[in-house]
Amino acid sequence: MLVARAGATPSALKGGAFRHARNVTPSALTSSQQARADSNAFDFSDATWHPWNIQATLTERSRNPDVSPWTVPRQLVTRGRPNDRRRRSSRGPLTSRDRAMFASQTMHDAVARSLIELECVPRKEFHESWSVVSRALDASCPSSILNGRCAVDVCGGHGLVGQLAVLLGGARSALCVDVRVPKYGQMIHAHLANDFPQLAGRVRLHGEKLETLSSHPHAVLFGVHACGPLTDLIIDLALSWRAPVVLVPCCHDKRQCDGGNLVNTLGGPLAVDVTRVRRLLDAHYGVQLSELDSDITAQNRVIVAWPREHDNARQAQEDQKESASDAVKDEDQGCVGAALKNAPSRLPALSWSRL
Ligand SMILES: C[S@@+](CC[C@H](N)C(=O)[O-])C[C@H]1O[C@@H](n2cnc3c(N)ncnc32)[C@H](O)[C@@H]1O
Repeated sequence: MLVARAGATPSALKGGAFRHARNVTPSALTSSQQARADSNAFDFSDATWHPWNIQATLTERSRNPDVSPWTVPRQLVTRGRPNDRRRRSSRGPLTSRDRAMFASQTMHDAVARSLIELECVPRKEFHESWSVVSRALDASCPSSILNGRCAVDVCGGHGLVGQLAVLLGGARSALCVDVRVPKYGQMIHAHLANDFPQLAGRVRLHGEKLETLSSHPHAVLFGVHACGPLTDLIIDLALSWRAPVVLVPCCHDKRQCDGGNLVNTLGGPLAVDVTRVRRLLDAHYGVQLSELDSDITAQNRVIVAWPREHDNARQAQEDQKESASDAVKDEDQGCVGAALKNAPSRLPALSWSRL
């Protein structure tokens, strides 16, 4: 790994070394030591952070403190040769030659087979979109963050994420917003809606800048690889709508994204994402972190966040269900008194007031 030492002069550094060293000034190194001291106060041992393996990054950066924090790339885990059809990071389209890999009766393979017929959807996009929606479903958050909501797929490109949120996640509808609806967007939707009628009439692809998007009731926002500060704008929207949000950030930009005082200790991109999570936590959001498989994309951090008030709603729902089932049990056992006590959640209001 390249290490640019403090005080190294341009003449002492050749070629690439100089390119990297330009970002490392003596004053940046001094502030890095300061930042390291600041971040000691930051509790990364909390289980929330475990999925991002922050402790390992801290150790790595403390071993190589002089490496410029913005020039450490995350590595894509590549499997097989570049033309290997199993390579999930490939930007080449799914084609009929991939058919054998998607032969099962699962929904995953059925959607892949449907997209194969179009021969225009990048393999990476399919695997990425599927994994994002799966992560949102796996998260131990209230199921109501997807169920019955409108999945607003911001910077959504072909809008595959929104459509999968309807197919898999029980979202009521999908609104895919992109400044420019890609040329195959409508065709992909029409084709999927033909193969999966549950999508018909529930998906809208809309050309608009996210900056002008007006508030949508009962939305869950998705921001998958919304570049740099666009991810921050999606967080702004989520906070102002008090909506759940699912993010996979990318292209962390040191001039436009806020890494707080963690940039030197964690490296710029991770510091920016940690700062985003802190912002959500401070706004009283529940947060679950995870990662997409790193053979699909190196920009694979996932943030699933929901307003804490949804937790209370879930608790109330569960309590209601529990008391209804207790009442049924009591009735079965002939305990009429207890059944009446629990009755309001099951009986129409009128009958109960007559009792
Ligand atoms: C890296 S692509 C991600 C596309 C898709 N989410 C995916 O993962 O395949 C970023 C998308 O953001 C869109 N975009 C850029 N600026 C935007 C803005 N201000 N408002 C809405 N969409 C924007 C671009 O047109 C592009 O489709």
